[in-house]
Amino acid sequence: MIITLDGPAGAGKSSAARALARRLGWCYLDTGAMYRAVTLVALERGLSLADAAAIAALAESIGIVFSDGRVFVDGRDVSVEIRTERITEATRPVADAPAVREAMKRVQRRMAEGVDVVTEGRDQGSVVFPHAEVKVFLTASAEERARRRHREEEARGSAATLEQVLASQARRDEGDRSRPVGALAAADDAILLDTDALSPEDVVERLAALVESRRPSACRP
Ligand code: DC
Repeated sequence: MIITLDGPAGAGKSSAARALARRLGWCYLDTGAMYRAVTLVALERGLSLADAAAIAALAESIGIVFSDGRVFVDGRDVSVEIRTERITEATRPVADAPAVREAMKRVQRRMAEGVDVVTEGRDQGSVVFPHAEVKVFLTASAEERARRRHREEEARGSAATLEQVLASQARRDEGDRSRPVGALAAADDAILLDTDALSPEDVVERLAALVESRRPSACRP
């Protein structure tokens, strides 16, 4: 069974997806981390970020594993490196390239074969897993998303103001929505979940209830 969680940056996808996967004992795919990891390795290998064919081949050749909240590439823990501002910026053109997205789609489908999966990103319900049993589009107002990110960044020691976080978020939203292939969009049959007034625990509760309601009766405990 597959549940897809798509939505803009800061809607709370990652923490909800990770907590839900842990609770259900399912696999977890953080597809944003996959785009980031491929970008990191491409830069390390001196590839041009404009060389979509080379990066697509790279995406299919490296082994990405999610374990215990960490991301590993060919056995190396890259969890911290992929979250730097440099990689965030460099990932954008990589995620825009249709050839890279095709390769990622193949890799993501392979990773989900034969297992129960919680997957999160921008195009998981709309493009990669159109037949997923549960599709959720997580939203929150721009102000609330920026407030959450600002709190996280403050905790990490960043001096960025709320206004700066809001401005950089607006640029990312625009990039996500205007990508020619794989743009951020709710699948027609996705359930919209606005997280503005919900605690992280409430979000996970609602998602778990949705999964329970869509489980084929044969596999209900
Ligand atoms: O969710 P994130 O910030 O870790 O995503 C990193 C980048 O990858 C961001 O530019 C959006 C892009 N992305 C994408 O294009 N498709 C996905 N399924 C997931 C992320």
